Amino acid sequence: MRTNDQMIKKTDINGNTISTEKNEIKAAPAVENKQSLHSYKELSHLFEQRFNVRQFPEQPEKLYDASQYLLALGGKRIRPVMCLMGNEMFDTIKEDAYHVAAAIELFHNFTLVHDDIMDRAPLRRGMQTVHMKFGESTALLAGDVMLVTGYQSLNKVHIDFLPAVLSLFNKTAKEVCEGQQLDMDFEKMPEINFDDYVRMITLKTSVALAASLQLGAILGGAGLGNQGHLYEFGKNLGIAFQVQDDYLDAFGNPEKFGKKTGGDIMANKKTFLLLQALKVASASQQKELHSLLRLNDESKIQPVLDIYTSCQVDVWAKELKQKYLSIALEHLEEIAVLSARKKPLEDLAHYLMDRDV
Ligand code: IPE
Ligand code: IPE
Ligand code: MG
Ligand code: MG
Ligand code: MG
Repeated sequence: MRTNDQMIKKTDINGNTISTEKNEIKAAPAVENKQSLHSYKELSHLFEQRFNVRQFPEQPEKLYDASQYLLALGGKRIRPVMCLMGNEMFDTIKEDAYHVAAAIELFHNFTLVHDDIMDRAPLRRGMQTVHMKFGESTALLAGDVMLVTGYQSLNKVHIDFLPAVLSLFNKTAKEVCEGQQLDMDFEKMPEINFDDYVRMITLKTSVALAASLQLGAILGGAGLGNQGHLYEFGKNLGIAFQVQDDYLDAFGNPEKFGKKTGGDIMANKKTFLLLQALKVASASQQKELHSLLRLNDESKIQPVLDIYTSCQVDVWAKELKQKYLSIALEHLEEIAVLSARKKPLEDLAHYLMDRDV
């Protein structure tokens, strides 16, 4: 938290609060303040206008068709939109931001293909997963080639920004791998505490959201203080985002969610639902949960869901999301730009909290 003497708080002519760090160098140009910034929907459209072309060569057909297959299924495009929002918070959107947004989305899709192999998932975005449709070996390569194509896109970024962009991108990519390893290690471990869970989901999911924003901000010329708050906003929002993902994996509508529900229960994932149930359930339910964890067939899904429901994990999910959303919004508040420039991110944060997709 910043102390008051490091901050100047003012109100602009429209009544918006302006928080200014005394040593912050970057403020968005006054002339743009009157224009409203792009919404999530508009940015995702602008991104897709550039991104929805075939990203890969024709041959070998099976490899590149497998990669293109997943990209064409779309998804929410949260991360590229966050990159563009991080950029637009400080300047008009730069072409480089689209290059980085494409790299981020390619990286994300690479992680999904590999994640679905690791999680033995049959469905993604309402369709067969890449490994189910094309086989595991092709899926591994299809993921690899997406990652490399992502780096080719990063390589288009102006040399002035490239070192900072690459260093954050690479740090994040390694963290995601670390988080994914912890996620799998935890499947086999009986005792995981809540802090371990938060550390794992921070690495596997939330740093990518945080970095998407910061990468956009770097390209917009944001100062380090603002970059830091934006990163922390994205990180805490990302934790709430994964909490919702874990909730939907148990209680979502598979038609909308596009993934097979109950997968986390089948794989003994140490989600907050399980941790909380193991903490608050009655002694007999805890015993039952432990024996269900030893089963390896789908018959365990419903009894586990019943225990979750009787432990009111939905109430706890709400509280947890709210806790991390509040921390995220505190960091957004600290960013030294006109409050009107924070509106798209505020809207995005609220949308992500209650999503069912
Ligand atoms: C799925 O991410 C993987 C998680 C980190 C939970 P998204 O929910 O953003 O997936 P798409 O891109 O919209 O399909
Ligand atoms: C995945 O977490 C995070 C990454 C892909 C890096 P999950 O395994 O919960 O994601 P989904 O639910 O399969 O999308
Ligand atoms: Mg996973
Ligand atoms: Mg998964
Ligand atoms: Mg999940």
